[in-house]
Amino acid sequence: MYFQLNIFYICVMSGDITVAITGVGAYLPQDILSNADLEKLVETNDAWIVERVGIKERRILKDPEKASAYMGSEAVKELLKKTGTQPEDIELLICATVTGDYVVPDTANQICKLSGLTRAYGFDINAACSGFLFSLATGAQFIKSGTHRKVIVVGSDKMSTITDYTDRSTCILFGDAAGAVLLEPSLNEFGIEQIALYGDAAGKDLLRIKSGGSLRPPSAETVANKEHFVWQDGRVVFKAAVKGMSEAVKEVISRAGYQSADIDWIVPHQANYRIIKAVADMLDFPLEKVMINIQKYGNTTAATIPLCLWEYEPKLKEGDKLVLTAFGGGYTWGGILLTWAYDGNKRG
Ligand code: UT7
Repeated sequence: MYFQLNIFYICVMSGDITVAITGVGAYLPQDILSNADLEKLVETNDAWIVERVGIKERRILKDPEKASAYMGSEAVKELLKKTGTQPEDIELLICATVTGDYVVPDTANQICKLSGLTRAYGFDINAACSGFLFSLATGAQFIKSGTHRKVIVVGSDKMSTITDYTDRSTCILFGDAAGAVLLEPSLNEFGIEQIALYGDAAGKDLLRIKSGGSLRPPSAETVANKEHFVWQDGRVVFKAAVKGMSEAVKEVISRAGYQSADIDWIVPHQANYRIIKAVADMLDFPLEKVMINIQKYGNTTAATIPLCLWEYEPKLKEGDKLVLTAFGGGYTWGGILLTWAYDGNKRG
């Protein structure tokens, strides 16, 4: 313990704290919504969904009494257990979500309470499918500045509550899940190296939930018109996502002075297998080194990236170079390049 504190002191004094992800947790609801199930709801078929999107099934949190805060807190509990972290040592929790339990209050503080983080405060970030990246970048600043030593970043979305199960163009895409990572000052030289984040309101009408905000508050009319469900112009967003994600990945690699060949893993947001493949192709990057689990979970919005890290954790080695990338509503997009700080196979 003394040794760890001492290293932290030296880093703070030198003004050069590297921020590392030191653990990953996740929560997946038990209920599965398969392509065969969707065939009974809308005019679609397994072959179309697999070929055009790459999804076989998604998880759905059916319990109406539980939502994003519950899923996030379960992911946090697993994270604390796996890393041997005491709940009272966490100082800040940031939650990326577009499906907070309430408009007010935020979801992050509900997660703190449900998972017993007695000393932590929290706040939410809404950057849609890029929310985890934006939250990770934000959380890292609190550690880099020396303000906090243990920060949790959660991505949690109960997408089934904003999905129109009569619209075949969207209901095949989304699932429910949560993921969480612990951020701490690095005890080796490994951690976050480069951050590139972008936003462009040009995407406003191309991917959105039309009503429920202050511009179009809920009314009988907005409910009747199904304006509280997520909608997107899929083809336009598809092209923007490929461009945005591949450019962001290239940018962080080049800023760090690396080549593509130096990167061990790309961790992309899971919106469509064809988007992921197109990004890998544009970067001339082998698909075997791209984390992909969309076939099992679909698009879980803010949860996709931590869910990938969680699933691939046993394969990750100390020193591996990862580029996280996402694109989502706003538009928002970006890339984060980091060096993995621990051997994942040593975590239970
Ligand atoms: O996560 C945040 C960012 N979001 C994204 O990155 C998503 C980007 N977009 C996409 O992934 C894809 O555009 C979708 C998966 C949303 C749609 O795939 P697509 O290949 O772009 O299909 P499309 O919308 O161009 O539709 C092609 C055809 C249409 O029929 P026609 O007009 O050619 O006769 C659709 O009506 O496929 C039809 N179609 C379906 N057929 C069977 C649309 N949805 C379905 C369906 N089952 N579920």
